Amino acid sequence: MPDWSPSSWTAKPIKQDVVYEDKKGVQDALEKLQKLPPLVTTREINNLKASLKNVALGKAFVLQGGDCAELFDYCTQDMIEAKVKLLLQMSLVLIWGANKPVIRIARIAGQFAKPRSSPTEVVDGVEMPSFRGDNINGFSADVESRQPDPSRLVSAYFHSAATLNYLRASLSSGLADLHSPLDWGLGHVITPSIKEKYSRTVNAVKDALRFMRTVGIDKDRGIETADIYTSHEGLSLEYEQTLTRLLRNPVTSTSSGAMAQAAVEYYATSAHFLWIGDRTRQLDGAHVEFFRGIANPVGIKIGPSMVADDLVSLLDAVNPAREIGKVTLISRYGAGKIAQFLPGHIAAVQASGHVPVWQCDPMHGNTQSTPSGIKTRHFTDILSELRQALEIHRAAGSFLGGMHLELTGEAVTECVGGAAGLTEDGLGERYTTFCDPRLNEKQALELAFLVAGFYRQEEDK
Ligand code: PEP
Ligand code: CO
Repeated sequence: MPDWSPSSWTAKPIKQDVVYEDKKGVQDALEKLQKLPPLVTTREINNLKASLKNVALGKAFVLQGGDCAELFDYCTQDMIEAKVKLLLQMSLVLIWGANKPVIRIARIAGQFAKPRSSPTEVVDGVEMPSFRGDNINGFSADVESRQPDPSRLVSAYFHSAATLNYLRASLSSGLADLHSPLDWGLGHVITPSIKEKYSRTVNAVKDALRFMRTVGIDKDRGIETADIYTSHEGLSLEYEQTLTRLLRNPVTSTSSGAMAQAAVEYYATSAHFLWIGDRTRQLDGAHVEFFRGIANPVGIKIGPSMVADDLVSLLDAVNPAREIGKVTLISRYGAGKIAQFLPGHIAAVQASGHVPVWQCDPMHGNTQSTPSGIKTRHFTDILSELRQALEIHRAAGSFLGGMHLELTGEAVTECVGGAAGLTEDGLGERYTTFCDPRLNEKQALELAFLVAGFYRQEEDK
């Protein structure tokens, strides 16, 4: 790519920048990171890219989910397993519902850096820098711990590596094996009619699994293991730059002719999939500059402030070769605004000839505060935005290719609603997020059931 290098972003205006006082510390950290091996391989990245092409063409569905802000402390056996199991269960329900393969991408092993609406906050009367994520500063509310600390960038790499190591090891050792019993327990569902509806779906999924076992299809690879790709917001460009390497592209380097020119490409190797946040997607800004040069599949968050014409310019900038599925547009307008914005965005993209993956993030446009000031999201808003996304895409002759959720395998109480009937009064019980409110395991699974149900209903029409 002409005029591009992993550091060309440094000449562009940047939003959400981190200013380090310890310049020598930054240099040491970046030098160290530069020498460390890639966290993921080009083959894996290309496999994901090929799968996302199928999603863009309506032949597969992508489920992306995980914490809003991942902490170094989440790098434990139990927490990794809980998240993997949840994504697996959700994907099974969605495969059954949508009748399509489901590509799983976790917000894990690197989802540390957070954009903030304000660089500072006041805690107990003291003004201090906002928490920017574990790879930048500490959460603990004192001015000292909130100073950006460059050694955290190296720590981020090692926590990503340890998480990824256990993720890979447990998948290859059978954590995703459908022979082992999955917990479909519905004890939390308080309404008998909903319980009855879920039981029918659970039984249908169980029947399908039993059938596969009986006829021996489960001996094939696919039921014993599963692919889970990793992703995070590519916010800290210093970090991403050091892990962006010129590597052989296993697809194009084996073909001849014009394609051979791309035999080596720059890959961001901190994760399989990176996305640009809604606050950092300025066309002439540093993040778009960095993203336009990497060979990975990439996401762009789009909210109500996105102007339809600018969206097309953004796609032209990040994907000049117009590769199908290279870009995932992650829409996050809010349940009350999606009908106003999504149709125009779809129409502009269709007219441009770009074929992206359209993914709905029903979380970030639906955040609200309770009267006592707790940040939450309502299950009904999340579901409503997803349902509208599905219907708007269908009406436009487009595909809703997937959903992007903030969730956790833990039994937290951060989002209101769902079949367990969590109310605002109950939020204080286990509210543990360090950023946005997440769906707990039951709410997340319930959402998967309901979305699967939307697809089933359409088929029955
Ligand atoms: C996020 O995904 O956690 C996030 C900050 O999203 P957005 O950029 O859409 O606000
Ligand atoms: Co978030």
